[in-house]
Amino acid sequence: MNIIFENAKLINPAQNLDMQGSIKVSETGMIDAVTFGEETIPSGTNDRVIDMKGKVIASGLFDMHCHFREPGQEYKETLETGSRAAVAGGFTGVAVMPNTKPVIDSPLGAAFIKHNAADLPVDIEIVAAMTEGSMGETLSPYGKLCSYGIRAISDDGTAVQTSRMMRLVFEYSASFDLLVIQHCEDTSLSSGGVMNEGSYSALLGLRGIPDAAEVITLARDINLMEYLQKHKLNPPVASPKYHVAHISTAGALDLVREAKAKGMQVTCEVTPHHFTLTEQDLYEADDKGHYIMKPPLCSRENREALLEALSDGTIDAIACDHAPHARHEKECPADQAAFGIIGLETSVGLTFSELVHTGKITLYRAIEMLSSNPRKIMGLSPVLFEPGSPANFTFIDPEETWTYTEDLVRSKSRNTPFLNRTMKGRAVGIYHKGVLHGLE
Ligand code: DOR
Repeated sequence: MNIIFENAKLINPAQNLDMQGSIKVSETGMIDAVTFGEETIPSGTNDRVIDMKGKVIASGLFDMHCHFREPGQEYKETLETGSRAAVAGGFTGVAVMPNTKPVIDSPLGAAFIKHNAADLPVDIEIVAAMTEGSMGETLSPYGKLCSYGIRAISDDGTAVQTSRMMRLVFEYSASFDLLVIQHCEDTSLSSGGVMNEGSYSALLGLRGIPDAAEVITLARDINLMEYLQKHKLNPPVASPKYHVAHISTAGALDLVREAKAKGMQVTCEVTPHHFTLTEQDLYEADDKGHYIMKPPLCSRENREALLEALSDGTIDAIACDHAPHARHEKECPADQAAFGIIGLETSVGLTFSELVHTGKITLYRAIEMLSSNPRKIMGLSPVLFEPGSPANFTFIDPEETWTYTEDLVRSKSRNTPFLNRTMKGRAVGIYHKGVLHGLE
């Protein structure tokens, strides 16, 4: 059946589009017509008409940082259950990180994900490991991995620790124009730590992670990139494309600002939990395991810096670092809890509640950071609201107040500090791959 989505607010930053309009989608999943303002689209007998008054049709949201745990840890999440969580959260595409068991560092691993993801309702892009087994010792075979369609490399969960190996990563990845996604953590500083180092970690008697662990790794990487550029040690290849995962400190944000000002291809993302919570929330919580993640929830000052960087454009993307873990891995003493929380289903709600409705960013910028920017960073084609283009939409009700209760969780895991939290702003459906989800 054809569907006419009538009288919506159309937001697609890839086209600088922010205006009222209507879109008709044919049963093949392609856009048939787009009209703006008051102009309506005539409907036929085979057309379903949906009144979108008060709702947004955004270019499909894309989360560039997810852990779907397949292969190897299917008790936490699978590609299928992770996709269900993505749909529930309003995402039409995600990128999955390679820290599965085994780590995705070979063409076989990439082919496995591609094959298992082909029929899922959302697009799954692959981030392969920077080094074999993410052990930081031997480069993964980037050339072969590229021919299996990977979009980026990362040793997420940890970082390459030696400068020499990182130099090799930059030189080799640049010859394939591959995006390098760095989880910035100097493990010689962070090892054994479970939360941000400061007065709260001291009060709780938990080992801390100094925020310098993030800053030092990023500073090293930027220095290496500059060195390689300056001395033209890797001609004729392009300068590396470098993306900071889950940035959480003022010091790292300053480094990103400086790198951008120098024209380097450096981008960064923030998670909703880092712009919403601080170490104080962990201190006060009974279920401390649900507040343990990497990087750790930061200080109030660092959270302020994140909010400023979201407003001033330093931060390019919002990515939730969806990190499912089983109950026994999180509902335990804080210093034994696995790092990470699920996030796909609360990302839009938190972005709207904490950033849009508080006036820190506009709705348009929220969509930019949740949709067009992550696609651009990952080298994906932009979503277009044009006749002849595939329909790839996220429907958002910016005013809906809702509570994230356990029965709404579609992920296989429940590890989130946001259960029973009330938020304003909700993804109410997607249209992708010719299928409408939601908007009943
Ligand atoms: O909290 C985290 N969990 N941070 C990471 O970088 C990895 C992730 C995971 O895989 O569980």
